[in-house]
Amino acid sequence: MILITGSAGFIGFHLSLRLLKEGYDVVGIDNMNNYYDPKLKEDRNSVLSEFPNYHFHRIDIKDKTSVADIFERYQPEYVVHLAAQAGVRYSLINPDAYIESNIIGFYNILEACKVYKPKHLIFASSSSVYGNSQDLPFSVKDRADKPVSLYAATKRSNELFAYVYSYTYNIPTTGLRFFTVYGPWGRPDMAYFKFTKSILEDGQVELYNNGTVKRDFTFIDDAIECLRRLIDKIPTDVVPYKIYNVGSGQPITVEELVKTLEKIIGKKAKRVYKELPSADVLVTYADTTELEEEINFSPITPLEEGLRRFYEWYKMYYEKHPIQGE
Ligand SMILES: NC(=O)c1ccc[n+]([C@@H]2O[C@H](COP(=O)([O-])OP(=O)(O)OC[C@H]3O[C@@H](n4cnc5c(N)ncnc54)[C@H](O)[C@@H]3O)[C@@H](O)[C@H]2O)c1
Repeated sequence: MILITGSAGFIGFHLSLRLLKEGYDVVGIDNMNNYYDPKLKEDRNSVLSEFPNYHFHRIDIKDKTSVADIFERYQPEYVVHLAAQAGVRYSLINPDAYIESNIIGFYNILEACKVYKPKHLIFASSSSVYGNSQDLPFSVKDRADKPVSLYAATKRSNELFAYVYSYTYNIPTTGLRFFTVYGPWGRPDMAYFKFTKSILEDGQVELYNNGTVKRDFTFIDDAIECLRRLIDKIPTDVVPYKIYNVGSGQPITVEELVKTLEKIIGKKAKRVYKELPSADVLVTYADTTELEEEINFSPITPLEEGLRRFYEWYKMYYEKHPIQGE
C-alpha cells in the first residue's frame, strides 16, 4: 500500500498512474483546492478512479485527525508526500496557504509517520531552496539558507523537519528538490502553460528581466522515473535521510522557451517585458551527480520534445473541455 498525498495534482497524478498500472494499491489524498482550476484536478482524479486499486479520500492535510485516520486505516508501507501549496509568487499574495499546507500539513504527515512507521517517506522539496545562489550548478552539498520566497522557506523547513524526524525516530526519508517540472496534465499557473494559452488566444506573454531568466526544465516522465526508482532506494545510513536534485541539468532562458513554443504552435507570441518579482530567482541549474549515482538515471528529455508532448495534450484536453467563460 502506497499513500500519495496530492494525488490529484500534476506530479501526484502521474506517479499514481504509473504505480496503479504496475498493480500497486494506491491511497490518494487531496483537498482539491482552487489555487488553479479544480476541474483539471477532478479530471486527473477521474482517470485514476478508473483503477479499482485506487482509493481516494478528499481530505486536507492541515487536519491532523484526518491524516491520522488515513494512516490508521491503510497503514501505508510507502508514503510519497506531494501535497503542498506550490508557486513562488502566490506566496506574496496568500502566505497563510503556505503555512497551513506546507508547514502544518507537513508536520501532520511526519507525526503520522512517527506512529505508523512506513518503510520509506519521500517528500517534495524544491529547487527554490537554493535562492539566488551564485554557485552553479546547484549541488545538494551547497548551503541552502537564503531563500527568497516564503514558499522556498517552507520547503527548506520541510527538509529540516524531516531530518529531525528521521534522526529521532529512525524514519527512512528522501527529499526531492524538483526543478520546474512540466508536461501533459501540467499546472496552469506555470509559465509554459500560461504562454501556450496566451499565444493561442492572442494574449500577452510576460517576460521578466528581458527574458534572460533561466530555468532547468524537467519533463514529467523523467521526474516520475526518478521518483519511481527512488521509492525502492530506502536510505540505510545512521540517520536514514537523503536529499536529491531532480532536474535536467540544462538551464534554458525563458526567451528560448517562448521561441520553442512559437515554433511548435506555429504562431508568434506578443511579448511584454516586466521586472522580476522579488520571489523569483534568476537561474536554476541542477547538479544531479548524487541522483545518477543512486538510480543510474537523470532527466534527459529535450525541452522541444517535452513541450511538443505537452502541446499535444493541451490541444486534446481543451478541445474536449473549453475553458469556462471563453
Ligand atoms: N511542478 C514543479 O515544477 C515543482 C517544482 C518544485 C517542487 N514541486 C513540489 O512538488 C509537489 C507537487 O507539485 P505539483 O506541481 O504536482 O503541484 P500541484 O499543485 O499540481 O499538486 C499539489 C496537490 O496538492 C493538493 N493540496 C495542496 N494543499 C493541500 C492540503 N492542505 N491538503 C490536501 N491536499 C492539498 C492540491 O490540491 C494539488 O492537487 C509540491 O510539493 C510542489 O511544491 C513542484
